[in-house]
Amino acid sequence: MKPELKLAPSMLSADFTCLGKELADVKNGGAHYLHIDVMDGLFVPSISFGMPVIKSIRKATDMFFDVHLMIIDPIRYIKEFAESGADLITFHLEAAEDPQAVIDEIRKYNCKVGISIKPKTPFEDVAPFMDKVDMLLVMTVEPGFGGQKMMPETLDKVRAARDFVTEKGLTTDIQVDGGVKFDNIGLPLEAGANIFVAGSAVFGPDTLGETKRFCEYLSQH
Ligand code: DX5
Ligand code: ZN
Repeated sequence: MKPELKLAPSMLSADFTCLGKELADVKNGGAHYLHIDVMDGLFVPSISFGMPVIKSIRKATDMFFDVHLMIIDPIRYIKEFAESGADLITFHLEAAEDPQAVIDEIRKYNCKVGISIKPKTPFEDVAPFMDKVDMLLVMTVEPGFGGQKMMPETLDKVRAARDFVTEKGLTTDIQVDGGVKFDNIGLPLEAGANIFVAGSAVFGPDTLGETKRFCEYLSQH
């Protein structure tokens, strides 16, 4: 069965002075998920936002919260992110000592589970978890900042993941994150991704219009 194609705008690129309007625009534009990047300054060089922000926006929108944890030892905070309103929690394979324990912890709070790999981590490392998670996130840039250029070599891993999912008859979603623009989204799509994170390409002077443009494209493919 062909997987559903979804857009997940990354809030990291939103204008925080009018966050409520930005969130309404991506929702009204047809975006399926809201991608929320949590950074701890250790796993990645930068620091973004955490539980209080998620809790606050949870009251403002009923969008599906796709929380991308770029933090070391993620098991420490699963309960708090789940209670803050996450629908799906993605953690990094590289950041977890015992990935299965993190998966179990996320399931305990009835959230969907995502597992992510950085550009240099091979697909083989995450393959044993593919039937245990709802989504694989293949980073198409080094995590840490919005507005970077997509690394095309990462798309081979998307291909490997899609082949694996098809071969094993799994329903695991494959998400790409980093450098996705309107003029290159066809590349990860062709490689087999079905959930597309886009930050700087969606949020801007016409967040509503850009969201619609992406969603229309996805609905035609
Ligand atoms: C990067 C984050 C991304 C980022 C994407 O570490 O995980 O979600 O916001 O931003 P763009 O689409 O601008 O590359
Ligand atoms: Zn992200």
